[in-house]
Amino acid sequence: MAESVKVIIEGKTYEFPVVTGTEGEKAVDIRKLRQLTGYITYDPGYANTGSCTSSITYMDGEQGILRYRGIPIEQLAEHSSFVETSYLLINGMLPNFAELQMMKVQLNDASLVHEDMQIFFQNFPRSSHPMGILSAMVNALRSFYPELPISDGSTTQDMMRILSKVRTMAAMSYKISRGHKVVYPRQDLTYCANFLNMMFNSPVKPYDLDDDVVKALNVFWILHADHEQNCSTTAVRVVGSGKVNIYASISAGISALWGPLHGGANQAVINMLTHILNDGGNIAHIIARAKDKDDPYRLSGFGHRVYKTYDPRSKIIKKVCDKVLRKLHISDPLLDIAQKLEEVAVKDPYFIDHNLYPNVDFYSGILLRAIGIPTNMFTVMFAIGRLPGWIAQWKESRNDPDWKISRPRQIYTGNTKNDYIPIDQR
Ligand code: CMC
Repeated sequence: MAESVKVIIEGKTYEFPVVTGTEGEKAVDIRKLRQLTGYITYDPGYANTGSCTSSITYMDGEQGILRYRGIPIEQLAEHSSFVETSYLLINGMLPNFAELQMMKVQLNDASLVHEDMQIFFQNFPRSSHPMGILSAMVNALRSFYPELPISDGSTTQDMMRILSKVRTMAAMSYKISRGHKVVYPRQDLTYCANFLNMMFNSPVKPYDLDDDVVKALNVFWILHADHEQNCSTTAVRVVGSGKVNIYASISAGISALWGPLHGGANQAVINMLTHILNDGGNIAHIIARAKDKDDPYRLSGFGHRVYKTYDPRSKIIKKVCDKVLRKLHISDPLLDIAQKLEEVAVKDPYFIDHNLYPNVDFYSGILLRAIGIPTNMFTVMFAIGRLPGWIAQWKESRNDPDWKISRPRQIYTGNTKNDYIPIDQR
């Protein structure tokens, strides 16, 4: 017998069906709520609202579980590559050898960026944040590659273009921001190695590709590849729900990711750790501020809407970070501060009571610094990693039989009707 939930409103009982996911999560299907009762739900930040059904990513926040298409994140980080994981997310299954080769060819074919786009990069003010530039450039890509009618939405070619070109554009913008010559993508390099080469190779100092660094970047991007209905993914779905093209939708996702409460947290963590270092390592002061109800300050890289235990990604990234620092013989004082801060915070009753643990951003900045990525590009690195997730979610929403344009309701709290007063009588 189908499960249902009874709701009593103003003495009258209504019955709503229950939707059950494959991992047993339950939701009350309230699609008929307003029509039957005249009521709507109130749920700021959508913390209790399922906006869609999805078969892409599963998270269990209580147990710290993350799986893409059913495969645990730990296994993907250990054995997969970013390109293979992207295929998995976008197509729903792991590729066979031929399919993976085909994807690599498609990514290589799409790796160049129209030369005219360089002019944009050159004309942004030097102080522009790379996330603002990236969002604008991804939107502009549609104008440079418009051959499909916009109503067609998107094809695999568009998806491969985004995956490949955003990586090229990110490296290109870094080179241009330094006043250096752009390094072009190479067909003989893998996705991650290609990025590192475009970022760091130069005619005066050829860049030595290190297998461990390439692997670390693969893992970093795999860990960021999807995270179900987070702020930026929701932005991609909401914007896409108006039937706009994939470039515009992903451009919106990039803008949403920029915020310090979301993808911008990796940059905020480094700023916080640097501040503690410059303050003589005063961890107690920062903890006290984060706990103070009258101070809006929060510990960056701590806490998560879904995870109420350690973010499984943070454990993996910490190990990768340790390995890269050892391999490159880097001793980063910020790592020491981060470790001490974690030790103190996870034992503090405030953090225990609020279920606040390190999230993926807590150690990722230290890894990125070790690789040589400048701090203001950290969130761009997150964005490149999240592309396959955004693409997969956009694609899924396009094919969703329950699709509807996103259009929430509100509870109006403004003035009741009052008449216009001419300016000379006010
Ligand atoms: N430091 C101190 N207190 C915190 C923190 C923190 N980092 N995060 C949450 N709290 C407290 C908050 O003050 C509130 O306390 P109380 O109930 O006493 O008023 C309680 O915990 C619940 O907070 P919330 O704002 O209702 O939780 P949320 O689910 O809306 O926010 C969050 C989640 C990630 C925005 C938040 O934990 C935060 O701001 N963290 C710091 C920023 C950060 O690291 N963001 C990266 C998230 S992981 C990468 C990604 O997927 O984007």
